Amino acid sequence: MVRAIFAPREGRGDQQGKERNIYYGNSEVGKPKLLDLFCGAGGCTRGYQQAGFYVVGVDINPQPRYCGDEFIQANAMSYPLDGYDVIHASPPCQGYTELNHANKAYYPKLIGQVRELLRSSGKPYVIENVDGARSSLPSSLLLCGSMFGLKVRRHRLFESNILLFAPCRCWHDRNFYSIHGHHVWNRAKMGPVRKDGRSRPGYGTFDEGLAAMDINWMRRQKELANAIPPAYTRWVGQFLLAAVQADCEVAE
Ligand SMILES: C[S@@+](CC[C@H](N)C(=O)[O-])C[C@H]1O[C@@H](n2cnc3c(N)ncnc32)[C@H](O)[C@@H]1O
Repeated sequence: MVRAIFAPREGRGDQQGKERNIYYGNSEVGKPKLLDLFCGAGGCTRGYQQAGFYVVGVDINPQPRYCGDEFIQANAMSYPLDGYDVIHASPPCQGYTELNHANKAYYPKLIGQVRELLRSSGKPYVIENVDGARSSLPSSLLLCGSMFGLKVRRHRLFESNILLFAPCRCWHDRNFYSIHGHHVWNRAKMGPVRKDGRSRPGYGTFDEGLAAMDINWMRRQKELANAIPPAYTRWVGQFLLAAVQADCEVAE
């Protein structure tokens, strides 16, 4: 076990036996600071902001609509991890997802390397990815839009060195959206029949996709298809915030 290193709290030595101060993280921003690696347009970022973090996003591509507090265009695999209270990473999912037929060997599988980097930081961390990455994230928590009352079926795995719980079990009714590739799919509608006889769901509109994910700042299908609903990280963020505030010990 290593002790996570956080910025010192003012007057902490005087707090023994008294009510503890709440930790508000780096003084210059007045909130705990979270680094969101592979941030995209900021689906994860927004949830962490809602949970109470100041969020710095890093992405290799420009993200003109990034919703976080700061954006840095850089390679997440070599970006310095110092100066943050918590680190989140959403490495690209194309090499893991079961929803495309692309040659997976073409896409890097970065979860193992990312885990090593995050563990070496000694900070509370989260790695998020698609259901297809389960063998690379064996002790992860699964979250789904239905757990948050959203009309989106979007299973995502969250691994952390902080104990996480789900709010409840999945609850899929027939009327939900899924968002991947070039489309928003509406399961309440019947779409065209595939060659093998199975029917596709109908198409939904981009605006329906935004509403289903509870996202209002993205303007491109690619941004939305990459994103997770902020509700997931708003939930996970509460556990991280409690850990930061408790100066908790994190597993090596
Ligand atoms: C799955 S998306 C992240 C979506 C984001 N978590 C959200 O909720 O909106 C993965 C992102 O990783 C970025 N990316 C891929 N390789 C990268 C690298 N080496 N360094 C930084 N970003 C990278 C892509 O540009 C893409 O925006």
